[in-house]
Amino acid sequence: MEKLLKKLGSIFGDKILDVACGRGEFIGILMQVLKDYEKFVGIDFSDKIVKFAQEHFKDKPVEIIKMDAENMSFADDSFDVVGIQNSLHHMLKLDKVLYEMKRVLKPKGNFLICEMHCEDGQTQAQQNHIKIHHWCAEIDTILNIPHKKTFQREQIKEIAENLGLTNMQSFEYSFPMENPKDEEFIERLVKTITSYVERIKEHKDYEGLKAEGEKLKKSLKTFGYAPAATLFFIGKK
Ligand SMILES: C[S@@+](CC[C@H](N)C(=O)[O-])C[C@H]1O[C@@H](n2cnc3c(N)ncnc32)[C@H](O)[C@@H]1O
Repeated sequence: MEKLLKKLGSIFGDKILDVACGRGEFIGILMQVLKDYEKFVGIDFSDKIVKFAQEHFKDKPVEIIKMDAENMSFADDSFDVVGIQNSLHHMLKLDKVLYEMKRVLKPKGNFLICEMHCEDGQTQAQQNHIKIHHWCAEIDTILNIPHKKTFQREQIKEIAENLGLTNMQSFEYSFPMENPKDEEFIERLVKTITSYVERIKEHKDYEGLKAEGEKLKKSLKTFGYAPAATLFFIGKK
């Protein structure tokens, strides 16, 4: 983690793009750890999420735009840094998205990939993060929202290596949780599980996924929750 923070602390650029920005967690992190920047641009194709992120960053040098990452409207070589966090497994056409990310990145610009993985050997609290993710992916898939299972370490490595970047560096870390069994936090996750499955109430798989959700709640109360291990790749175009 220390080495990664040092590396990120050496990166600067005027315009920084976060692809599939969601609510903007990655932008928030990069704002704190990069050496310097002028402006962030975040894109996401969900109306609801774009509105949330626009409101969240309204007083910050951040522009949130509704845009499909498979077809970006930016000119070639527009950004100094282009990144994506925990969204590779959400992309329907990942190759197209990665091609677009590289296209809009300036020559010698930094390409950042940050992605959790589901490799064995993680704590039971981390496994709960992975299991919740895979359960949510099943529900999203029923609702036609692109969401696959998270990748194995080697799969993410292959994706990063196939980008044809130079000066590639890789980092791996598990973000520590002060208290994986924090009751308030676990209760929030339990509520999310309850409401998440209600979105498919009419579907034939509802009862099965609901039962699976109940098992997840039990496991959360027993073992707690911690973020899954994460890979971070940084390379230059
Ligand atoms: C796990 S969330 C994003 C997490 C976010 N990057 C973060 O660091 O907190 C995945 C996001 O990908 C978005 N998404 C999926 N496919 C997309 C696409 N083709 N173009 C733009 N956004 C997309 C979804 O709307 C969702 O907000």
